[in-house]
Amino acid sequence: MSSSPISPPSLIPADPVAAAADTGELSGRHLLLGVTGGVAAFKACELARELQRRGATVQVVMTEAATRFIGTATFQALTGRPVYTDAWDTRIANGMPHIDLSRDADAILVAPATADFMAKVVHGLADDLLSTLVLARDVPLLMAPAMNRQMWAAAPTRRNAAQLQADGVTLLGPGAGEQACGETGDGRMLEAQQLVEETIAFFVPKLLGGRRVLVSAGPTFEPIDPVRGITNLSSGKMGYAIARACRHAGAQVVLVSGPTALAAPDGVRRVDVRSAHDMLHAVQAEVAGQDVFISVAAVADWNIANASDHKLKKTEGGGGPTLEFAQNPDILATVAAMPGGPFCVGFAAETEDLEANAQEKRRRKGVPLLIGNLGQATFGRDDNELLVIDAQGSTRLPRASKTALAASLVGEIARRLPQARC
Ligand code: C5P
Repeated sequence: MSSSPISPPSLIPADPVAAAADTGELSGRHLLLGVTGGVAAFKACELARELQRRGATVQVVMTEAATRFIGTATFQALTGRPVYTDAWDTRIANGMPHIDLSRDADAILVAPATADFMAKVVHGLADDLLSTLVLARDVPLLMAPAMNRQMWAAAPTRRNAAQLQADGVTLLGPGAGEQACGETGDGRMLEAQQLVEETIAFFVPKLLGGRRVLVSAGPTFEPIDPVRGITNLSSGKMGYAIARACRHAGAQVVLVSGPTALAAPDGVRRVDVRSAHDMLHAVQAEVAGQDVFISVAAVADWNIANASDHKLKKTEGGGGPTLEFAQNPDILATVAAMPGGPFCVGFAAETEDLEANAQEKRRRKGVPLLIGNLGQATFGRDDNELLVIDAQGSTRLPRASKTALAASLVGEIARRLPQARC
């Protein structure tokens, strides 16, 4: 969205996958991962690993056709559990693997799900271990279709996909792109990371279902000339974590972001901006119809009033250029003052007397909710400690990962939203 020709490098290298990983968002969850016979079965290896990295335990069940693509030993090594393929498997003491294997599961995730397997589930066929487990389950079923684009577009598959959804099955994807057959189109299985995100989201209560949320995040960059500028050390991690948590909670999310090294969370529409003025314009363009505005961005207080449109030259023996500063618009206060505008949430980083200063800032900016950063030097870190401040007082959210804090903040915001906005 930025009309600026230059994107400044981020000062803090950040790995979005590492930032979201190891958060234990699936800890305590037991997942039965069904693998059916498609070439995308190779992606299920990474999926099994990534689900476990988020804390889940994973029990793999494969169809006979799936074992033509990937060996059972691979999944056994990845999960540390025996892999089951056979309804007559005698390793389960009571001889009922078709019931026992899903008994402790929180969900069955079939990835990849072939067109044939989808058709079997629609018709309640139970001629192998996995299809029998699916029919005998009393837990949610998630399926990640994977097939050639013509198979996905075929009338029977269209009918089957609609019927599965009508039966309460959650379909994850498919995505579009290059396919193993060399064609391009719909039917490609979602990547392992996307499936992990969707699985995490599946278990999150939909506290913001039907709501529209606008989040600002990251630093701003105020140009001095076409190649130089002033910025700050905001990594964007808190704002991105909040955008992701809102999406997991069922909201439709737009993220207006200053320059960061982070990938946009899945399912979130990101609008890239550079300066505070760019950010104000993007927020104003997006704000209509939003239920909530969460202003996490570390907006620069000043811009360079005498910025040059050509690269400033070093003068022989001379001093540096003289920069003149002009105050930036307050984006949060501007949105908070809009008649009929969204429910506004601000952030505050204070070094002294956080509660009193933040409470004063909350009133001055005219926002119902302000989140104070309790920790010093929170920029770039993966954890934080927050104070939730409203007109009634304050509540402390103890030190935790930004991912976990973001999920708590969703709860704090959701319970304060006017019901009429539903
Ligand atoms: O005034 P201060 O920068 O401490 O306020 C912080 C809060 O105000 C944050 O929510 C930040 O996103 C927002 N803000 C803004 N526009 C500015 C400065 C801050 O939206 N120019």
